[in-house]
Amino acid sequence: MVAVYSIVVLAVASTVYAGWAPPVPGLPNTFPNIAACVDQPLEYSCENTTTLKNTCCSPTPGGLVLQTQFWDTYTGFEKKGQLLPKDSWTIHGLWPDNCDGSFEQYCDLSRQYDPAPDDKTVPAYHGPGVDTFIKKFGRKDLLDFMNKYWVSQGSPSASFWAHEFSKHATCTSTFDVACYGPGYKKHQDVVDFYDAVVRAFHMFPTWTMLAASGITPSNKTTYSLSQFQTALKAQSGAIPYLGCGHNGTVLQEVWYFNHVSGTEQFGRFKPVDSTTKSSCNATGIHYYERSPKSVREVRDEL
Ligand SMILES: *[C@@H]1O[C@H](CO)[C@@H](O)[C@H](O)[C@H]1NC(C)=O
Ligand SMILES: *[C@@H]1O[C@H](CO)[C@@H](O)[C@H](O)[C@H]1NC(C)=O
Ligand SMILES: *[C@@H]1O[C@H](CO)[C@@H](O)[C@H](O)[C@H]1NC(C)=O
Ligand SMILES: *[C@@H]1O[C@H](CO)[C@@H](O)[C@H](O)[C@H]1NC(C)=O
Repeated sequence: MVAVYSIVVLAVASTVYAGWAPPVPGLPNTFPNIAACVDQPLEYSCENTTTLKNTCCSPTPGGLVLQTQFWDTYTGFEKKGQLLPKDSWTIHGLWPDNCDGSFEQYCDLSRQYDPAPDDKTVPAYHGPGVDTFIKKFGRKDLLDFMNKYWVSQGSPSASFWAHEFSKHATCTSTFDVACYGPGYKKHQDVVDFYDAVVRAFHMFPTWTMLAASGITPSNKTTYSLSQFQTALKAQSGAIPYLGCGHNGTVLQEVWYFNHVSGTEQFGRFKPVDSTTKSSCNATGIHYYERSPKSVREVRDEL
């Protein structure tokens, strides 16, 4: 517990000094309501709901935080240079499920940037793309990373990023505009959310975790569900949800469930088993190789 506490204090201290000066590339600008968070109990979300009161300091409701990823074999936008990262899964998002597995979506229409909402009651957005918000904050580093690892299939990646923010981040209490206080700069929450997603994605290197157990994409063999689950549990600490298409035969996605102590932005993530039953068959699952023309070599500047 002592160790946890000092990490929180450190993160807090650096934000205090960052203040509201222009954002420095690479440094998180942010979490304003610091004093209130320091006094909060160090509980994980969904574990002691009676004590977590300040929703700016802990995702509430929505304390079951899912870091979701895709295994796509093509993007459909190859001609526009939208290619998949070699030897890596891609980011889907970071979702605030309620502790019972249900969830809210599109919670704040004043922050609706999704050009193609999958909820008919939500008006489509026609303004500048969220990529322009990221540039405005001087975060070319973040934009470059997102272009490499947060790659959409069937739509331009920036539209997909907008979709993820408006559908999910607006329901994540720690990104509420009210939490930012008077120093809030328009769209800062959007940039902060993308930073948080990238940070969470780094915790779950699916391709590498599977490869470490000898499971690599193959158009010649198939795998069983328990092979994937065992490999991922061994390294991440819990069984994620695995999603398959084509009647349970083609591996397409993974969702890592977590409880979080502190904010979704900076808190500690604790992996917990999936509460959703896998849509994959028990055996005969294809983890397909990608077509070489859909892939590019990427290198992160870590
Ligand atoms: C929840 O937190 C409160 C206050 O810190 C504590 O008294 C209580 O024992 C905790 N409950 C559980 C189940 O940990
Ligand atoms: C799934 O199985 C049904 C019934 O066998 C079949 O009609 C359908 O085409 C299959 N779908 C896919 C995507 O393979
Ligand atoms: C996968 O499961 C589906 C239905 O859940 C079934 O139709 C199909 O035959 C199964 N395929 C294999 C290879 O087990
Ligand atoms: C492997 O199979 C998938 C699915 O049929 C296909 O899209 C891909 O191009 C194949 N990859 C290679 C390297 O043959």
